[in-house]
Formats: sequence, C-alpha cells, structure tokens
Amino acid sequence: MTIASTSPPREREKSVKGASGSHGLQMPPSDHVPGKYTGPSREEVLAMRRQYANPAIFTLYGEPLLIVEGHMQWLFDETGKRYLDMFAGIVTVSCGHCHPKIVAAIEKQTETLQHATTIYLHPNMPMLAKKLASKMPEGLDVTYFVNDGSEANDLAVTMARLFTGNSDVIALRNGYHGGSPSSIGLTSHNTWKFPIPSALGIHHAVSPDPYRSPFAGTPEEIASKSAQDILEIIRYSTPGKIAAFIAEPIQGVGGATYGARNYLREAYKITRDNGGLCIADEVQTGFGRTGDHYWGFENFDVIPDFVTMAKGIGNGVPLAAVTTRMEIAQALTQRIHFNTFGGNPVCMAAGLAVLDVIDEDGLQENSRVIGKKLKDGLRELAKSHQLIGDVRGMGLMLGVELVRDRKTKEPAKKETLAVLETAREIGVLIGKGGLDGNVLRIKPPMCITAEDADFTLDVLDRALTAANS
Ligand SMILES: Cc1ncc(COP(=O)(O)O)c(C=O)c1O
Repeated sequence: MTIASTSPPREREKSVKGASGSHGLQMPPSDHVPGKYTGPSREEVLAMRRQYANPAIFTLYGEPLLIVEGHMQWLFDETGKRYLDMFAGIVTVSCGHCHPKIVAAIEKQTETLQHATTIYLHPNMPMLAKKLASKMPEGLDVTYFVNDGSEANDLAVTMARLFTGNSDVIALRNGYHGGSPSSIGLTSHNTWKFPIPSALGIHHAVSPDPYRSPFAGTPEEIASKSAQDILEIIRYSTPGKIAAFIAEPIQGVGGATYGARNYLREAYKITRDNGGLCIADEVQTGFGRTGDHYWGFENFDVIPDFVTMAKGIGNGVPLAAVTTRMEIAQALTQRIHFNTFGGNPVCMAAGLAVLDVIDEDGLQENSRVIGKKLKDGLRELAKSHQLIGDVRGMGLMLGVELVRDRKTKEPAKKETLAVLETAREIGVLIGKGGLDGNVLRIKPPMCITAEDADFTLDVLDRALTAANS
C-alpha cells in the first residue's frame, strides 16, 4: 500500500453537513466503523481521574475528550464521533492508529513470549538494532533500547560523559529533551522546570530560530552567530572542554523551530573542536517525518555521534533507543547497566513492524508530498489571517506561530487555545507548543491524505476567523 498521492483540485462540497456536525465542512470519509463503547461514562472517567490520578497529569481541551478507539489517522470518542488526528498522540503514532500490520506483530509476539529481559538471548532485539543500523550513516550501528525519550537522552549524555571524560553539556534554548530528573536539565522552557536543581553542568545556547532570535541578519548569519554562542559558553562557563552538544534538528515542543542549514554544521564543528560529541534528538524528527530525509539531521548535512529516538519508533508502544558508534558504546561497559523493559520482545516486534510499514506504505514520501501541500496551504492562510506570524517546518512536522501583532510578535495565547477548541468542535485535533503556548503544532500520523490536508486547512481557516472575531 503506497499512500503518497498528488493532491486533487480542492472541490469539496463545503455546504454539505459534515460527518461531525452542522458547521458546513465535509470531513473526508472513512469506512472504519467504531465498536460500541460500553465502558464508564466520560463524566465517570473524569471524576476518577480527578480523584485518583496525580493532578499534574493535564488534558488539552476545556472539555476534556474521551478517546476510546483509533484507526489510522482517525480517532473516535465514546459517542462514536470521529476526529482527524493531526497531532498523532504527540507525534508518536507514526504509521496510523492500530495499523493492522503492527497490531498483528504485537499480538503474535504477545502470545508467544511477552518478557524475558536481555539477560537471555531473543532474536527481536538484535534484529531491530541491525535494522536501525541499516537506516543510519555508516558507523552509527550500535543501539541500546530503553522505554522513553527521556531515558534515551539521559543515556546518551551518560555515554558522552564517560567516553570524553568531560562533564559539561550544551543544549539549546527552547529545546525539549524530557522530564526525567536529568533530561529536564537539558530541557529549556521555564514552564517544564521545577524549582529543584537539575541542570548540573548543563548550559543553554541561543536557539538559531530566526523568528525570535536576539541576533539580527539573514537566517544564515543568525545561525552563525548562534553557533558562536556555543563557543562563548565553552570559553566562559566550562573548563574549556565539553562532553556533548544536544539538539533537536527541529525543535518539537518548542514549536517547530530550527536554524538555517549552516547552523548544525557549525555547531557540530565547534563541539568537536572542543572535545565534545554531538547528540541528535530525533524523538520527533526521525523516521521519515521531515519528508526529504529519514532523519532530521540529514536535512542539515551533519552526522551526529548519537541518535536518540522514541515516539514514532513504536507507533504507540513504549519504545526508545540510543544509537552510537561501538567505541563510544564501549564506555558503558565499565559498570553494570541494565534496563528491565529495554529490548522487550513485544516492543521490539512493534519496532520491526514500524520500520517495515514506513517503507512499505511510502510514509516518508507521503510526509514530503502532503507536508508540502499543508505548508503551502498554511502560507496561503497567512495572507488572509493576520494572526499567523510564522509558518515553518518540514514534511509533516509543521508549526504555525500565532501573534497579536506581526511587528511586536506578541504571542496570541488565548487565540491559539480558541483555534484548538474550534478545530476540535469541527473534528480536527491539533497540538500546541512554544514557550508561550502560541504555536499550532501539526504533526499527524504520516498516513494522512491530500483530502485530510485540505480539510485541515478549511477547518483552520474557519477557526482562525472565529479566534479573531
Ligand atoms: C524531542 C524530544 N525529546 C525527548 C522527549 C522525551 O520523551 P518521553 O516523553 O518519551 O520521555 C520528547 C517528548 O516530547 C521530545 O519531544
């Protein structure tokens, strides 16, 4: 099954009552019929959560959605109402909800052997490691599997420190690398940080994103000045040697921000000249999402020393990984290091199926084609909606920054929430990001179609108009 398709002319009937209500927009059809939901009511679920779940666990909408079924790019609530999922469970459902091939692989492995740990041999773990190596630049061929992106980044930093003998790590402002006690130190948003020490030996360099840069100049000049900031940090705030530089090729939680193409090249050179290793956090950008390339870093002509992965590698199962070179990985053998679920046969089966599906279903190409269509459409919308300050991203990793005033760039926080709510009412789920929560994040399962992209654009047109009135 190949999904990539060129977009047909936009000739949808806008006046027909849509699949999701009387808003007049026609949702693309789906032949999936959701099962009858027989579980606790939405109110009961909400009450249980309020009473028994840690209150730090938050929901997105004013009226939280109860989602009980998924099929490819579609989600269903308890009433059977269908939603187009343009956020993919926070950029995680890479291939589509409950993709039949991935479900079958998980079911088969679950029935055979669910867990044993890596103290015994099982074929799935080295098979997935080998398959990942086949997708990496030469030499990046040794993988350690863990459960989530935070763990993957923690482990990469640990290995970098052990291998180099240095301690300082440079991350980027506006980056997100996780919420564990050490990865939260790499993360650079006050909204995620608690008033407890976390960033020992971690420094944050200026983000190269030209839209809100403190530097002036062309995007390329801003990228160079931002890379120089790494050198300044090394000179002023470290012993002159660092363990690592970590960056998302495109910042995800930060709102699809990134520098001009020369940034990572210059940043990696400065890092290596000063004893450090380079970590590409591909938790959101990996597995074909950026369209032109399988890995985000390839868009910038660099080769990292570590690639950290999570989210899309499992299409929804807890699976993450760090790939590096053998000589670096050796540094971890000086003590015992173990992860109970790392390499779990069921998660490995899912990962193997995900990698197959991305190739078989043409998902990278689909990301390129549909991503371009969406980005072009968003740029069109920017012509008529003053709220849109910036449209950016690659493939199906897109961000739309909303501002009250294009000159002052005052973040349009309330308006962003209003857009999300209107889109949800019509039937499209979109994410939110950026330090001020004023960036629409569009990062759907990579199986969406041209019709889904058109529908999303129509819905956003409607929602942006409503948010501004
Ligand atoms: C780029 C990036 N790195 C790391 C993480 C942390 O991953 P996890 O939530 O699986 O620990 C995230 C999560 O959003 C992320 O977006």
